[in-house]
Amino acid sequence: MAHKVGITETVLRDAHQSLAATRMRTADMLPILDKLDSLGFYSLDAWGGATFDTMIRYLNEDPWERLRQLKKGLPNTMVQMLLRGQNLVGYRNYPDDVAEAFIKLTAKNGLDLFRVFDALNDIRNLEVPLAAAKATGKHVQGCICYTTSPVHTNEKFVEFTMELVERGCDSICIKDMAGLISPRECYDLVKAIKAKVKLPVIIHSHCTSGMAPLAYYAGVEAGADVLDTAISPWGWGTSQPPTEPMVASFKGGNYDTGLDLSNLVDVGYYFLGIRQKYDSLISPVMEKPDVSVLLHQVPGGMLSNLHSQLKEQNALDRYQEVLAEVPLVRKELGYPPLVTPSSQVVGTQAIFNVLMGKRYGRVSQEVKDYCLGLYGRPPAPIDKEILKLVIGKEQPISVRPADLLAPALEKLRQEADEIGLSDRDEDVMTYALFPNIAPRFLKGEIKAETLAPPKPEAAAGAVVREVPNEFEVTVDGEEFHVTVNAMGLGVAPEPKEGARPREVPAGGIVAPLQGLVLDVKVKEGDKVKKGDVLVVLEAMKMQTEVHADTDGKVVKLYTFKSETVANGDLLLVVE
Ligand code: CO
Repeated sequence: MAHKVGITETVLRDAHQSLAATRMRTADMLPILDKLDSLGFYSLDAWGGATFDTMIRYLNEDPWERLRQLKKGLPNTMVQMLLRGQNLVGYRNYPDDVAEAFIKLTAKNGLDLFRVFDALNDIRNLEVPLAAAKATGKHVQGCICYTTSPVHTNEKFVEFTMELVERGCDSICIKDMAGLISPRECYDLVKAIKAKVKLPVIIHSHCTSGMAPLAYYAGVEAGADVLDTAISPWGWGTSQPPTEPMVASFKGGNYDTGLDLSNLVDVGYYFLGIRQKYDSLISPVMEKPDVSVLLHQVPGGMLSNLHSQLKEQNALDRYQEVLAEVPLVRKELGYPPLVTPSSQVVGTQAIFNVLMGKRYGRVSQEVKDYCLGLYGRPPAPIDKEILKLVIGKEQPISVRPADLLAPALEKLRQEADEIGLSDRDEDVMTYALFPNIAPRFLKGEIKAETLAPPKPEAAAGAVVREVPNEFEVTVDGEEFHVTVNAMGLGVAPEPKEGARPREVPAGGIVAPLQGLVLDVKVKEGDKVKKGDVLVVLEAMKMQTEVHADTDGKVVKLYTFKSETVANGDLLLVVE
């Protein structure tokens, strides 16, 4: 049966989240909005997911301002966000009042379509976000997080779909974040859903394994209504199937998209230039199909994260080992679909297991929380021995996780006021979402990252808009941070490590990972017991504690709250 196929273009969000660590700047989006708006896309995936965090952490850009500008430039097309259920645009459950206020504010700032998912497909985690999104009167799209495991069957997926329908979703998205779905599986799943539900079905996949374009075709034949694609310079690899070839494939047949190819080609040229600007961020590994994803299931965004996290930890050579560890950890933790935040929880644990030499010898707070049920109900029970190892005698919860969170918005508003932040609702919300990073952003202390020049092979014909002006230079083993000013050479050497000795003395406690010091729990002169928490680090977006390995006294502190430490940096000395 013939039906028109809609296209959701992802270049403004998922494409660069999957290929370039979510770094595309708003300034690179604005000039093409008019053209994008005229094409007739079903929607534009443009906000949410990792964009919010990345913008305030690395780009010194206000996510709310981006949203308003996007809507202003896209009056005729639905601006779509990816909402991580009760995790909103973060990595943990937020209290209901924060979730409700965030969703309302998002609609007010111009959002048209909420695509909502829960990483564990735990409907309890979607109740409040779906109701709040419905209340805004905007389009609400419920997601099934697609994964494969002994406990994930089409029957279960359809059951979950019915839960989404009951909560008023306007459309259903099969969210295949790792690009695992095969053409046959896609056909069968779409058929199974369509047999029960009249709502539009959207397929969201990634080219990671190389099967996505075929899976899309099969899904359309089974009745899928909308496909997620990325304009070709930002498609393929760990991103979506490319827009123009998909549109061309369906042209003139039963499933014509109605999109004009020559206009799409113009959009493609524009984004080719933008893509070259971000070339240094795009790893060739991410660009080639790799069926090993079917074994490790790591989604695109997480692959590029693992890559950069291992690079930060100076351990890129362990990449393959970590990839092999991921499915083991996933199985032990009850087969969670790998999508934010479970992908970070599982991925970071896999990194810890490989780098620390002892499996579960170090666990992040997030893995503990996951095992306690604070992220929701895992699809299958957690391995009993691992559970004991991680939570000891503590008991997992049995209620909806957010039921344990007291309303917090008023308190957060007061806190923001006390530290001198603006009282605009949007700024208070930025603080409520990311209290560790938001104050620096809101006070204007974040410096936008500079981009490295494109790789030589891409440089020909490329438009380089930003030239780096900061370098790390090593002279006689001393590291210097050098800034080159446009006026000439303004060299400002700054010893990077201050008074921290290079040699670790007896009793020295070092940072086990590169990360941000969130909290220092002791001061000089404090007595500590073996196992006491000394320092809390945020490494790879997860919190991890540094413990005392013996009883003793803190004789010297070398670190402080909000310091960025390298792997092996001396934090303090306990004697
Ligand atoms: Co995706």
